[in-house]
Amino acid sequence: MKKFTICAAILCALCLSVMPTLDAQQSSNPGLQPILNHYATRNFVAGAVLKADLDLILQAGIRAPSANNRQPWQFTVVQNQNLAKQIVSSIVADNVLIIISAVGDGKTNGSQILDCALAAESIYLAAQALGYGSRIYTGPMDAINRNLKSDLGLPNGYSAVALVRVGRVQADAVSGASSRKDANAVVNYK
Ligand SMILES: Cc1cc2nc3c(=O)[nH]c(=O)nc-3n(C[C@H](O)[C@H](O)[C@H](O)COP(=O)(O)O)c2cc1C
Repeated sequence: MKKFTICAAILCALCLSVMPTLDAQQSSNPGLQPILNHYATRNFVAGAVLKADLDLILQAGIRAPSANNRQPWQFTVVQNQNLAKQIVSSIVADNVLIIISAVGDGKTNGSQILDCALAAESIYLAAQALGYGSRIYTGPMDAINRNLKSDLGLPNGYSAVALVRVGRVQADAVSGASSRKDANAVVNYK
């Protein structure tokens, strides 16, 4: 009986060690990794965003879904550091700002705003999938739309909706990511 108990305990321990939890299963799926493990970068460090990577990141924005496939967006890539600093004062060397704009005031066309937000999310996730840091900002939109439209060359009648900051990141910056609400608090099944 004692032998049986020991064998059962060893078997259980073995099973548990090879049986991943739900979280581990999800995060080991390569397609889900950038979606489940992203975080809004705080610790940007100086360093270039490679042009080939920037092209891929922009493709991710261009590939975003939009209502009726209207693709209402314009992407403005700000590499000029003086201009970037006027928009996000904490910018560090070589950060790139990708501003997503659309026709209107940038606030009241709900569907277009949603489309631009999805493009921003795709850009944000693509940057992290490529190993960069990224962060979405809407705080600077009023200042951009008031003062910088012509410096940025926004098309006539367009306003900025959101921007994504992309740059190099410290390897351990993920420790700064905030927690999320428990699924029980925000999901219901009917
Ligand atoms: C629509 C939107 C607007 C945001 N605007 C700003 C902003 O203006 N300034 C800022 O520092 N972070 C901004 N953020 C980043 C959020 O604060 C961040 O995603 C959130 O706190 C979660 O942080 P975490 O990813 O580290 O958990 C914005 C994020 C979103 C989605």
